[in-house]
Amino acid sequence: MKRIGMGIVGTGFIGPHHIDAVRRLGFVDIVALAEMNDTLARQKAEALNVPKGYGSYEALLDDPAVQVVHNATPNFLHYPVNAAAIAKGKHIVSDKPLALTADEARKLRDQAKAAGVVNAVTFSYRGNPLVQQMRHAIAGGKIGTPRFIYGQYVQDWLLKDTDYSWRLEPEKGGVSSALGDIGSHWCDLAQHVSGQRITEVLGDITTAVPQRKRPKGAREAFAATTGKEEYDLVDIKVEDLASVLLKFENGAKGVFTAAQICAGHKNDLMVEVCGSTASMRWQQEDQNNLWIGHRDEANQILMKDPGLVDAEVRPYVHMPGGHQEAWPDAFYNLMRDIYTFIAEGKKPTDAHPPAFATFEDGYRANAIVEAILDSAKAGSVWTKVKY
Ligand SMILES: NC(=O)c1ccc[n+]([C@@H]2O[C@H](COP(=O)([O-])OP(=O)(O)OC[C@H]3O[C@@H](n4cnc5c(N)ncnc54)[C@H](O)[C@@H]3O)[C@@H](O)[C@H]2O)c1
Repeated sequence: MKRIGMGIVGTGFIGPHHIDAVRRLGFVDIVALAEMNDTLARQKAEALNVPKGYGSYEALLDDPAVQVVHNATPNFLHYPVNAAAIAKGKHIVSDKPLALTADEARKLRDQAKAAGVVNAVTFSYRGNPLVQQMRHAIAGGKIGTPRFIYGQYVQDWLLKDTDYSWRLEPEKGGVSSALGDIGSHWCDLAQHVSGQRITEVLGDITTAVPQRKRPKGAREAFAATTGKEEYDLVDIKVEDLASVLLKFENGAKGVFTAAQICAGHKNDLMVEVCGSTASMRWQQEDQNNLWIGHRDEANQILMKDPGLVDAEVRPYVHMPGGHQEAWPDAFYNLMRDIYTFIAEGKKPTDAHPPAFATFEDGYRANAIVEAILDSAKAGSVWTKVKY
């Protein structure tokens, strides 16, 4: 197979996971990384065993050996880095949310389309084998017509007022926190497994911790305070809790909560689709089991096992039943779908494998979040998603 050169911008929390997943593919060379400055770039390149470390993303984009750019920077840099990469004719794998606003996301989608470059957004949960099983089974009519789609993405890393991140600063994270960061994952997943688009929303949003202690020094993503940090007291403008009623394109109703302030919940993502004949539920914290609900017979738990999933889903399973697969394996599946597409010379207009979310999907997620914020601002009224 022809080798492909990859370069990554941003190597904080998630960047190294991009590198790990891509390394597992075997036919992609990690050519370079880019960081905020030369010193950090050199340190990161050495620590992550990447040949070149650039002190600016512009320098990385000028490297002809980089064919695919991964953007794992904070949200406010998604638009400029993605746009600059596309302008250089590079394929682009952007972390979510695709951009700070739906308007920016639409521009990126259109720019990528016009340039004919492969474009992907890392809605990572799609890569889980049982998510693919759920999607495939529902598409095949195994639960009848979806009528009710509900769930949550609930975390506790912003429970205390000493918890702080760039994600809470609108100019860096965007005008939304819980919805943009994790609600976007839930919406993509719910649409992906149900095969139905969200068309209308009614949102209620809250900032449960309205003032926080912003550390004066740097702190790793998701790390708690040492208790010895100096801090500034700052007002928080973005929501850390959101509950949303939904309408889907086939008339199905739904509801979900995105929250970052619920003690004990780490990455408690759940999506259930209740169809006209049966229900299916996937929970990321119990991701090797898929619950299937019946009315007239006993409910079932499908344990992830290559022999028990549908034949089309088998390529997403790498271990025999009973051996747990998890987030990094799902992320690898995502990268395999994306890079196989590139290696086969497919065009962005060709059909994409299922775990591969595009800038179109990223744009839709941005548009949904914006509609929820608009709904809440208008006093929690039904609001159409403007795609
Ligand atoms: N797909 C997922 O499941 C998932 C999970 C976590 C994070 N993310 C997304 O990944 C992105 C990064 O999140 P994170 O938690 O890794 O953040 P982070 O703050 O840990 O890392 C960001 C990195 O970008 C670097 N950076 C900042 N400015 C830069 C610049 N101008 N040029 C080059 N590098 C620069 C920082 O030095 C840091 O290394 C976010 O958009 C987040 O939403 C996605």
